[in-house]
Amino acid sequence: MAASPTAVGHSLIVTRLRHAGCVFAEDEARLLVAAAHSGSELSEMVDRRVAGFPLEHILGWAEFCGLRIGVAPGVFVPRRRTEFLVHEAAALARQAQAPARRAGARPRTVVVDLCCGSGAIGAALATVLDGVELHAVDIDPGAVRCARANLAAAGGQVYVGDLYQPLPESLRGAIDLLVANAPYVPSDEIALMPPEARDHEARVALDGGPDGLDIQRRVIAEAADWLAPGGNLLVETSKRQAPHSVAAFAAAGLLPLEASSAETAATVVVGSTPAA
Ligand SMILES: C[S@@+](CC[C@H](N)C(=O)[O-])C[C@H]1O[C@@H](n2cnc3c(N)ncnc32)[C@H](O)[C@@H]1O
Repeated sequence: MAASPTAVGHSLIVTRLRHAGCVFAEDEARLLVAAAHSGSELSEMVDRRVAGFPLEHILGWAEFCGLRIGVAPGVFVPRRRTEFLVHEAAALARQAQAPARRAGARPRTVVVDLCCGSGAIGAALATVLDGVELHAVDIDPGAVRCARANLAAAGGQVYVGDLYQPLPESLRGAIDLLVANAPYVPSDEIALMPPEARDHEARVALDGGPDGLDIQRRVIAEAADWLAPGGNLLVETSKRQAPHSVAAFAAAGLLPLEASSAETAATVVVGSTPAA
């Protein structure tokens, strides 16, 4: 049962959250009240939020594409901007599934989410697409534990390890949709990030090396070996880094296209292999 503070207690929580810099203090107070099972748990949750812990780590979940995605402390909190990558990936997959549908067959799409974190992208794709065979990889065992829980309902296989290394060999040349929101913050810009990210998300989830693109470049460089004919790789990047991401796609023999959403300031580069 949720804690039920009096109206005065509720407004004190809102005031404390607002003074701590929470822009959506009313909404956060409502979520914390709904999540706490007792007055003492509620007060401990509010104290942690005021001390700067991310709301999602306190609640144990983040909203992403309308889903509740479980996130444990230290694990990257899925960002709303990444919903754009899901949207673009789903549109490409539906296009690729159209011939099977016209032929009356059940479409099947092999999806791999590299650098999956909590598994948010894969979970969202498995929700909006039919016939998904889902695989996901992360190097952080804590993230893999979250992803396993979040992807269990979709039958997703989650591997721990470095990029493509833990994937079964049978996926080589067989992936229809490869998605990656790899870390892309340049190392010396981590100190400029909000404390919620800098202090509460694992460094390995944020640090993309000197120009931010070390891991993304490795994802792109090997993608052509793993994609099926006509398969697509989508990576999230920033507007500033996009020209470098596009160049990496071209160097890897993938035909790149940049897409962006002004609404969420999201940028995605998509690259495809030639169809069979
Ligand atoms: C920016 S977070 C994105 C997580 C998730 N895709 C999302 O959008 O919510 C990047 C993730 O990449 C993982 N990662 C970093 N280096 C990796 C590597 N070499 N191989 C696999 N995963 C890696 C981190 O542990 C982290 O979970």
